[in-house]
Amino acid sequence: MLEAKSFELFPEAASTIAGHVDAFYAFMVLVSAFFSLLIAFLVVFFAYKFRHKPGEKVVYPPYDEHSLSGMLLEVVWTGIPLGLSMIMFVWGVSIYFTEARPPADSMEIYVTGKQWMWKIQHMEGAREINELHIPVNRNVKLTMTSEDVIHDFFVPAFRTKADVLPGRYTTEWFRATKVGSYHIFCAEYCGTKHSGMIGTVTVMSEADFNAWLGAGSGEGSMAEQGQSLFNQLGCGNCHASTLNNQNGRCPNLVGLFGAQVDLKDGKKVKADESYIRESVLYPQSKIVAGYDDIMPTFKGLITEDGMLKLIEYIRSLGPKNGVINSATPLPVQSGDGSNVAGKPVPMKVPGAPPSAAAR
Ligand code: CUA
Repeated sequence: MLEAKSFELFPEAASTIAGHVDAFYAFMVLVSAFFSLLIAFLVVFFAYKFRHKPGEKVVYPPYDEHSLSGMLLEVVWTGIPLGLSMIMFVWGVSIYFTEARPPADSMEIYVTGKQWMWKIQHMEGAREINELHIPVNRNVKLTMTSEDVIHDFFVPAFRTKADVLPGRYTTEWFRATKVGSYHIFCAEYCGTKHSGMIGTVTVMSEADFNAWLGAGSGEGSMAEQGQSLFNQLGCGNCHASTLNNQNGRCPNLVGLFGAQVDLKDGKKVKADESYIRESVLYPQSKIVAGYDDIMPTFKGLITEDGMLKLIEYIRSLGPKNGVINSATPLPVQSGDGSNVAGKPVPMKVPGAPPSAAAR
């Protein structure tokens, strides 16, 4: 809850990972405290026990590097710290791996950071600023990018954070365990109002969340908005996006998302968010095998929010969701040789910037 507490060392623990992070942290604090106290005690104790007494002459024992007791001492003082630090390493890595790998059944939500606010889009169309509504006991995956500088999406109650970078997508996931409101912070200094780049996660029961989501934005789902952007930008002129409307000049987008793509240079790449983004903005950087470098760049013609909608549209074309959306008919392809692969036809380069609706 957001109201001020009298005194607390830790934020509330409200995600499945929070207990693991706290236990790990407690272990490290206890180990550090134990050795700090032990060393401090020994410093004082030895200083007293081996202090110089009046009339005493300092005598050093003969030096023997092979003495058994000396070797044992070294093995012990090397072995114990090694063991303890390896426990910390393995434990820490296992938590890191858990946090770094969103479960496959996660609900997808998109986050765009910008100086100095968080813009959040739900697949169903709902949009919010500096607020994130999620259902309790569901895995939630955030796909995040920035419009300007580096930000960092941090929810202390979930014990997870991730940098939000311009020009690429990072992810963060959590499973909230308690209904309530929790702080969002930006955890990367990003300019004058960095400290004001805050928000609230509202964790709701499944029923409340569905009611909230149902209120909606009236703009249609993200995929639908992505589809109209796709048509506005003229992508469909070339990328036939329904199976029976294949156009030879450009790769088909149906079933693309998450699939392996063979490239002209013999490499393979997974068609994820970053690949799609790169292909829209820098189409020449990865050419699909069997196709020519004829696509113009859409850099400057599409916002980060718009890009996320386009990605969501391409995701909706399968194979993950599997539903081919053919509600909006695509421009009809000409029936002549322009459909034959290897015979590039001059592209219509979109000259006009997208209308306000596309932003
Ligand atoms: Cu955004 Cu600090």
